[in-house]
Amino acid sequence: MSVICDVHADEVLDSRGNPTLKVYVETEMEVGTFTVPSGASTGKKEALELRDGDKKRYGGKGVLKAVKNVNDEIAQCIKGMEITEQTEIDRAMIDLDGTENKSNLGANAIVGVSLACARTASKELDIPLYFYLGGLSASLLPIPMFNVMNGGKHADNNIDFQEFMIMPVGAESFREALRMSSEVFQVLKGILKEKGMFSGVGDEGGFAPNLFSYEEPLKLMSEAVEKAGYKLDKDIVFALDPAASSFYSDNHYTIGKEKLTSSEMIDVYKEIVNNYPVVSIEDGLAEDDWDGWAKLTEDLGDEIQLVGDDIFVTNIKLLEKGIDEEVANAILIKPNQIGTLTETLFTIRLAMDEGYGVVISHRSGETDDTFIADLAVAMNTGMIKTGSVCRGERIVKYNRLMDIERGLGKRGQYPTW
Ligand code: PGA
Ligand code: ZN
Repeated sequence: MSVICDVHADEVLDSRGNPTLKVYVETEMEVGTFTVPSGASTGKKEALELRDGDKKRYGGKGVLKAVKNVNDEIAQCIKGMEITEQTEIDRAMIDLDGTENKSNLGANAIVGVSLACARTASKELDIPLYFYLGGLSASLLPIPMFNVMNGGKHADNNIDFQEFMIMPVGAESFREALRMSSEVFQVLKGILKEKGMFSGVGDEGGFAPNLFSYEEPLKLMSEAVEKAGYKLDKDIVFALDPAASSFYSDNHYTIGKEKLTSSEMIDVYKEIVNNYPVVSIEDGLAEDDWDGWAKLTEDLGDEIQLVGDDIFVTNIKLLEKGIDEEVANAILIKPNQIGTLTETLFTIRLAMDEGYGVVISHRSGETDDTFIADLAVAMNTGMIKTGSVCRGERIVKYNRLMDIERGLGKRGQYPTW
């Protein structure tokens, strides 16, 4: 294998039209890239996304400082290192940064280089990325969680919960899962139109009409599933990401005009789970409400999947705390929340060793990069959420998963729920 001979970055745009980094890592034989995504409902403890703050450019959102950090300091630090020495490369960048949250160089700079290195290495070895990351055991396609209705910080409507997802658990293959979900999505669009509702989409491609309760989207989705010819609970189940940190303050959750305590919020979820086939709830409570989270896990953890996103932010220390305090039973994984591939893989492994579910995830501001599709298969996580069944930056990941499924042939498996 060869050594890294050049590293550079460029300022490009993400799916919301905001600047982000595209990083190139070159060896003598190959060049690999990674284009960095960006969140909107970010956890407070995420590694820092470095923005220029110069209001005259992109309203302060430019990333020229992060680009410079890649081109100068990071490039100097890792040039000459063996491209396959991912752990050493990541360690060198963590040491060079020297802060707990990568605020010096920027997690957007570091994650771009880290993931681009893996891609370059896989290209040099001339093997698919999932195979480079996961080896021969990489064989499980993920059940996709399609965010078909958007609210919260991802849409300009009045739905408090951020994401309403469908999971095609009754499919026999990933390709079938995608077809079933696309059909439901199109039927849902028709239903919205029939009812005179707005059928434009939010940041992740889900419909974003104005609705007045969290139940309305669930009702519309149930209607769409059945009208598309599928059985609720058997073929298709639901998942939610209320992203509760975004409507939590002063120890209360504001839903519509009501202010609820953690316990009352948990009661809302119990009712939802009783009335609809909801099998997974992400960030049902806020990142600062650890006690509430423990109660939520005690009350509902045996029945459904409880996914920690803002509360864990892909950080192994926060996951360890969660395991100790019996908080959640699954984790959402976003590589840019923590900043390197190595740390991401360690967090995934710990979660799996401890029996936590693992959902690989996109960000609401995405790019055409498909890295996370390969990552899900590489680690056999069995679940991915990467948006709705529309918008190019979401669809590329799903199309990549169909490619992977074809490549795996008989070795590939689609999970049962
Ligand atoms: P994001 O949130 O806007 O920070 O990407 C997505 C999520 O909450 O899962
Ligand atoms: Zn979330």
